[in-house]
Amino acid sequence: MNIDGKAWRTIWLEPGGRSFGVIDQTQLPHRFTTRSIASCDEAAEVIRTMVVRGAPLIGVTGAYGLMLALHADPSDASLAAAFEQLNATRPTAINLRWALERVRDRVALLPESERAEAAKQEAAAIADEDVAMCEAIGEHGLRIFQELAAARPAERQQEPLRVLTHCNAGWLATVDWGTALAPIYKAHRAGMNIHVWVDETRPRNQGASLTAFELGKEGVPHTVIVDNAGGHLMQHGQVDAVIVGTDRTTRRGDVCNKIGTYLKALAARDNGVPFYVALPASTIDWTIDDGVAEIPIEARSAAEVTAIQGRVLSGPGAGEIASVQLSPDGSAGFNPGFDVTPARLVSALITERGVAEASEAGLRTLYAGS
Ligand code: MRU
Repeated sequence: MNIDGKAWRTIWLEPGGRSFGVIDQTQLPHRFTTRSIASCDEAAEVIRTMVVRGAPLIGVTGAYGLMLALHADPSDASLAAAFEQLNATRPTAINLRWALERVRDRVALLPESERAEAAKQEAAAIADEDVAMCEAIGEHGLRIFQELAAARPAERQQEPLRVLTHCNAGWLATVDWGTALAPIYKAHRAGMNIHVWVDETRPRNQGASLTAFELGKEGVPHTVIVDNAGGHLMQHGQVDAVIVGTDRTTRRGDVCNKIGTYLKALAARDNGVPFYVALPASTIDWTIDDGVAEIPIEARSAAEVTAIQGRVLSGPGAGEIASVQLSPDGSAGFNPGFDVTPARLVSALITERGVAEASEAGLRTLYAGS
């Protein structure tokens, strides 16, 4: 997608094929910088510290991380250790394990001399497929938005379609396009009048920092709101649809996404607002059913709750990115990174293969044999 007129992906192989580049998302929206990653240790570090984040993107980063491990040492022991190291970085998004397994299975039976090259090809294929899947999600979601817009009463036809999203499920969370934001970009590029309510998404504020950054660079009208405003807006008829991404969706359609998603789904149900979840096939965990009971929820640092990061507005350090403390010394913080929205609260799943009911039967209509 575009940053100041230049098209970017979030991750790319660098010349020579022994390193890859990423956008440093911890610095956005205030500073646009990139990082060059040349070892498996570094790949693990950028996932763990959220220099890269978002379920599909950490999968691709893990895949390239395995490639780097095999360049350094193509043995079985190295492959197994790198797999474990990368897989342990973030526990909730299934895309990470899915991508690591795909690269491992591709190289495991090859001679050691061929492994790094095969890993490179597989990682590149995963990245390219992610772009194609996200763009297809965009097309399917666009049709839903067009139907929602057309179904509004005549007196509201001139108003923008108002869509609320939580966290960042845009192109920064994937390789390109995004999941939940792909239909929004497609709609905007098709000339649809659309406006996005952007949940700030405490504690790390991926909405206020990353989603707002993306939408601004693409010229999509948007407004950042505090996480607590969504229910109020829905009660006052200000939200036509909610659309979010997901880090893991179970075979019965339970959806795990950034903490706070569940509350938006409850508010949407109470107000008759459709609640859509956009996801590529790599986000479906066919091995589990009950998301609340079975999905591991990442426990993050309490410091993300008791402090906040931003750009200093004035005084000493003006312009610098800094953290400030919110809570009194000694107050405990608790910081689960994700929550689970039960399938019954999801109006539909928007995938690269089309739109499905959030149920095992619904998913199997699109993914027979999975
Ligand atoms: O903790 P993050 O920033 O990695 O969480 C990201 C999300 O929750 C996204 O909504 C999710 O990965 C779906 S993105 C395509």
